[in-house]
Amino acid sequence: MATATENDDNNLDNHLKPDSEPAPVNLSPPSEQKPLSKNAQKKQLKQQRYEAKKAEKKAQEKEHKRKESERKHKEWEETLANATEEERLNLIESRKSLRKERMEKRSEEKEKKMERLTKAKEVGQNVVVDVDFAHLMSESEIHSLVQQIMYCYAVNGRSTTPCHLWLTGVKGEMSAQLDKLPGFEKWFIEKESRCYIEAMADRKESLVYLTADSETVLDDLDPKSVYIIGGLVDRNRFKGITMNKAQEQGIRTAKLPIGEYMKMSSSQVLTVNQVVEILVKFLETRDWKTSFFTVIPQRKRTGVDLVDCSKSKSLSEEHPEKEGEDESEEKHDLLERKKICVEVPLENGS
Ligand SMILES: C[S@@+](CC[C@H](N)C(=O)[O-])C[C@H]1O[C@@H](n2cnc3c(N)ncnc32)[C@H](O)[C@@H]1O
Repeated sequence: MATATENDDNNLDNHLKPDSEPAPVNLSPPSEQKPLSKNAQKKQLKQQRYEAKKAEKKAQEKEHKRKESERKHKEWEETLANATEEERLNLIESRKSLRKERMEKRSEEKEKKMERLTKAKEVGQNVVVDVDFAHLMSESEIHSLVQQIMYCYAVNGRSTTPCHLWLTGVKGEMSAQLDKLPGFEKWFIEKESRCYIEAMADRKESLVYLTADSETVLDDLDPKSVYIIGGLVDRNRFKGITMNKAQEQGIRTAKLPIGEYMKMSSSQVLTVNQVVEILVKFLETRDWKTSFFTVIPQRKRTGVDLVDCSKSKSLSEEHPEKEGEDESEEKHDLLERKKICVEVPLENGS
């Protein structure tokens, strides 16, 4: 991960404390880049294999679902056929009332979720996903980002203390891709075509760009601050891009205090959905350790869990030279987490 220059912000409030440095940015779009290295080719191959396997698994699951529903339907028909007229009526009636109950529960949950999101809009922690980077991403990277955003929205909606979520820079290809998401037009989220710097011009002092390249470590979330996350899937090809953007705009930056709680096996650069989920978890628990351990996958950590800060190197030293999220693993994480979200029964109807 990149190292960073001195942060010129002397006005840091006590939620932010200094640490490492930023780096030169490679702004060339994917098409203008050098031929792929052996390592990158290997990754590409791995990615292709992953995609093929995923498609196969999806088809199998679809077929399994179809067969299951056919089996259940047949079973139901048989039960009805073997029942007396009175039993038939009772069975149909109880099925109807079960369905009604389920629908009522669902709409109750939806209502509660809307209440929480409405409250978050008024008093919640402002969190912005800056999606103004579509011109630097390939089609599959944009697709991946859109999936991550969908996941962020779902996680936030389920939280007991959701944040006030914004998407800024929603235009062009990014807007077109987001529009394709089912129900996106009804999402209870701020969608803003302008950049946050324009949309929130009246509160520039409150803006804090979260970036792993910052020399400032976040130690709490300030309700008055607006935290910005770079909506970027780039395998860290554009090292330091968000740090440089924030510095050019003259806004504050901060990185998550990961190094104070765990050792990472590679860099501390997380995906957009991981960062949003960590913030959401922190808003619920006010505990970084729980938030990191809940969200950061085991494979990204070393065996050493709690870092003794007095003995640890500075965070800039911990940033390895080479950065590279493995896309297939990242997608796998997202998929697994999606499954968990579906499988785990939710408390308080959330
Ligand atoms: C996949 S990263 C993008 C990396 C990109 N090369 C950059 O320089 O920002 C997505 C976003 O998540 C946020 N992020 C990731 N890891 C972070 C960390 N350790 N601390 C703070 N923010 C982080 C940043 O806002 C970042 O732009």
